[in-house]
Amino acid sequence: MKTITMQTRRTTYQMGIMEHGFLLHLYYGPRTEGSAENLLSYNDRGFSGNPYEVKEKREISMDYLPQEYSCYGNGDFRSPAFRMKDENGVFAADLRYLSSKRYEGKYMIPGLPAVYADTEEAYTVEVLLRDKATGVEVTLRYGVLPELDVITRSTEVWNNGKKKVYLDKVFSASLDFLTGDFDLLHFYGRHAMERNIERVPVSHGGLGFGSRRGASSHQHNPFVILAEKETTEKYGGCWGMSFLYSGNFWFEAEKDQFEQTRMQMGILPEMFEYPLAPGERFYSPEVAMAYTDEGLAKLSHIYHELIRRHVCRGKFRDIRRPVLINNWEATYFDFTGSQILDIARQAAELGVEMFVLDDGWFGKRDNEDAGLGDWAANEKKIGMSLSALSEKIHDMGMKFGLWIEPEMVNEDSELFRKHPDWAFRIPGRMPVMGRNQLTLDFSRKEVVDHIFEQISGNLEKARIEYIKMDMNRSINDVYTAVNGCQNFGEIMHRYVLGVYDFLERLTTRFPDLLVEGCCGGGGRFDAGMLYYTPQIWCSDDTDAIERIYIQNGTSFGYPISAVGSHVSAVPNHQTGRTVSLHTRAVVAMSGSFGYELDLNTLTEKEKEEVRGQIRAYKENWELLHEGRYYRLTDLCAHPDAAAWSFVSRDREEMLLNIVNINVHANAPVSYIRCMGLLPEKMYKVQETGKMFSGAALMTVGFPVPVVMGEYNAWQYHFICV
Ligand code: GLA
Repeated sequence: MKTITMQTRRTTYQMGIMEHGFLLHLYYGPRTEGSAENLLSYNDRGFSGNPYEVKEKREISMDYLPQEYSCYGNGDFRSPAFRMKDENGVFAADLRYLSSKRYEGKYMIPGLPAVYADTEEAYTVEVLLRDKATGVEVTLRYGVLPELDVITRSTEVWNNGKKKVYLDKVFSASLDFLTGDFDLLHFYGRHAMERNIERVPVSHGGLGFGSRRGASSHQHNPFVILAEKETTEKYGGCWGMSFLYSGNFWFEAEKDQFEQTRMQMGILPEMFEYPLAPGERFYSPEVAMAYTDEGLAKLSHIYHELIRRHVCRGKFRDIRRPVLINNWEATYFDFTGSQILDIARQAAELGVEMFVLDDGWFGKRDNEDAGLGDWAANEKKIGMSLSALSEKIHDMGMKFGLWIEPEMVNEDSELFRKHPDWAFRIPGRMPVMGRNQLTLDFSRKEVVDHIFEQISGNLEKARIEYIKMDMNRSINDVYTAVNGCQNFGEIMHRYVLGVYDFLERLTTRFPDLLVEGCCGGGGRFDAGMLYYTPQIWCSDDTDAIERIYIQNGTSFGYPISAVGSHVSAVPNHQTGRTVSLHTRAVVAMSGSFGYELDLNTLTEKEKEEVRGQIRAYKENWELLHEGRYYRLTDLCAHPDAAAWSFVSRDREEMLLNIVNINVHANAPVSYIRCMGLLPEKMYKVQETGKMFSGAALMTVGFPVPVVMGEYNAWQYHFICV
């Protein structure tokens, strides 16, 4: 059997071309040489159909042979990666191998985010498949980053036939496993409590989840891990899939009748029906896959590196982001220009580097009911122009940033009164409201153009170094009257392309701008957004204790630099919990750090503490963002203390963070077993002067102080002596 093999430093991926051009998946795992063909076994399986050409050989069936890119119509009755129908509604496809090629450098995808790399850092493999009956051609693209052990996948469909077809399901990646018993780790949640971990067995009947909300969602994150049963943070095999897409998606994992597992991911197929006329092409978004046999921590490190160096772009990719103060939880909508300046002045005095003016600065925006869509500053409310405000902030030595929500409109706005047809609404029905706003139809270029011009006008007039780009409702009433495009799946995909187009224009026209993503906190926290926005507001839940869980779940697939994280006021506005300023800062420092409260309300002692926190963040920034992040406690097991660490690349330095989340009378000591240190070296704790050996820290652990009261936090800096 002819094989196509992709090698990374530590992994091998192989497919095989069977007689008659059936493309089989042979292997994805630890690096190896040679052909994996003999792993296959051929058996006559009842009720598993045989392709016509091999009808005599009943042991050949696509229904149990591992498929590289399964399609509905060739006898594979498992959930397919690809399904299409013709104009008469007939579902059929039979994709056969035509050719393949390999070239240096990483492919990119028109209009969509994709992993990028220098020519010498990556190579691309393309495999061309064809459905003879319709002439539809499918190109499977693989981007291989050998040093990182990452392989990306994306699918292009070209209607090279004479008749229109409808794409019903075009997944981006699909993996078949011949054998094995797996767990799936996935990250579910809700608004203000995103990315909780769930580890569940992959069973017969399978698992399927995703988003039909228009954004990747708070409810399910498009990052998943398939792990062997025995896999832990430190050991074991695991495969990751991260979808570089910010809209509706779907993930499936299923164990089939012969105990084989299929995992796959792509755009939500439900109501997709993407029409493809002769000559037209469709590009699926990209999935970045990785495999390691060294456990979950290592898999996370691969994704951290991938996102930091090969997904995020722009000036702020590698440099320290300014410590910011955001006025949202300090004022909500209720502020004047002079209050803003008071907050800013105090922040500047304590060392904060940028002031971010959140929602409420434009149009008639004094509450949630009006103003979205009218991106002109409300000078009456602010008491001056935006540029005057920005100058005053700059005079204090700070940069200036602004909140926007370009995709949305209130019925009570000039924009809606002028262009009511620009909002998603279905004729003859009352729209479903979310936060009393409607979604603008970003699948239409003229809508994106108009909003872009309004917003960039502000950026041209005033000195603005940062934008927080929000999106505060799920999308409903999907209907567009233009381009003859009225099907849900197509509009939703074109909507996401519109959002990407907006962001691409924004970051191109203003290359020095730092853009932070946001969607009611972390409702669009995905690798697609990170291509445009190197950080994303992680959650609207700023409670430090809840944030430990949210940031822990987020860390599986995303780097610390991507996590927008702020110290806010107590009692916390979302939970009512009171936690010390120190604990709040320890948690917020494990992210792109900032404050979100009126610092004037602090005591002099607390203000001094804030000064120290900002100093500490600046000092530790490299270790926090460039170091390796380790989860040292399994939060699913409800430990009394939560701990995580940052270890420098040379492993000679560690910042250990601990928060006690439960206290008991006469309590046993919790020991935190560290990871990633040099076993033979001695480490000195800078805060206490105590010495520990790397081996002891990794096998026995670091004793957590036994204290009265919960929610104490410790940050210890270990340095090799
Ligand atoms: C969302 C964001 C918040 C804040 C508000 C403003 O909820 O997540 O941080 O910006 O919108 O309306």
